[in-house]
Amino acid sequence: MKIVMLGAPGAGKGTQADKIADQYGLPHISTGDIFRKNIKEGTELGKEAKGYMDAGKLVPDELTVRMLLDRVSQEDCSKGYILDGFPRTIPQAEALDSELKRLGENIDFAIDVEVPDQNIINRMSGRRACPKCNAIYHIEFIPPKKEGICDECGEELVIREDDKPETVKKRLEVYHEQTQPLIDFYDKKGVLHTVDGRVDAEDVFEAIRSILK
Ligand code: AP5
Ligand code: MG
Repeated sequence: MKIVMLGAPGAGKGTQADKIADQYGLPHISTGDIFRKNIKEGTELGKEAKGYMDAGKLVPDELTVRMLLDRVSQEDCSKGYILDGFPRTIPQAEALDSELKRLGENIDFAIDVEVPDQNIINRMSGRRACPKCNAIYHIEFIPPKKEGICDECGEELVIREDDKPETVKKRLEVYHEQTQPLIDFYDKKGVLHTVDGRVDAEDVFEAIRSILK
């Protein structure tokens, strides 16, 4: 089963992708997490991506597509995967599509988690993330058991560099301009499903589960 998570920055793609990964035993592939790991490790890829990410812009398609196609060709992806944050532009979606065609495969579900812009800024200011295992929390809505510490691995939680309100605004602009057209792209393929992302994260997951059944 191959799933694409769609939705604005902060809609809850990562939160839901984690739950799907746990329940269905599929790898959760977040291009944002891969870039952040590379930045932390100081790799060439990380150095190249950092400037774009800090400015709330997209990393160039060429680089992102190469990285993603390499990731999904790995052994753990043989039974499927959940893509979170990819594709994010029409050229990325087309590149994935042509690779899947070549393999005789396709995307089974594109799930759009819908949250209006006005709810997003508030969510982002409260987000805390684990830099080690990528678990996601919110200080008000989804707090860790112990303040500032990851439930899963005990690492100290951090605020993402790009969660400053002015960067979030830019990311939302970029989303509407470059990523939202993908909703139509997957609708035309007949695999689009929309869930209301404003409700409690567990209820969002219930809605997703009934789609995947
Ligand atoms: P990426 O890491 O993908 O960021 P994003 O798409 O902007 O999305 P977020 O991770 O911010 O939000 P999310 O939808 O995962 O929400 P989350 O579950 O965390 O990308 C970062 C950057 O990398 C990009 O800007 C770009 O520069 C680059 N990049 C990545 N992929 C790229 C690509 N393909 N091409 C080019 N560039 C790329 O939830 C948000 C918060 O809300 C959390 O605090 C969470 O706890 C809370 N929350 C979640 N669900 C709920 C709920 N139902 N109710 C209340 N709170 C909730
Ligand atoms: Mg995310």
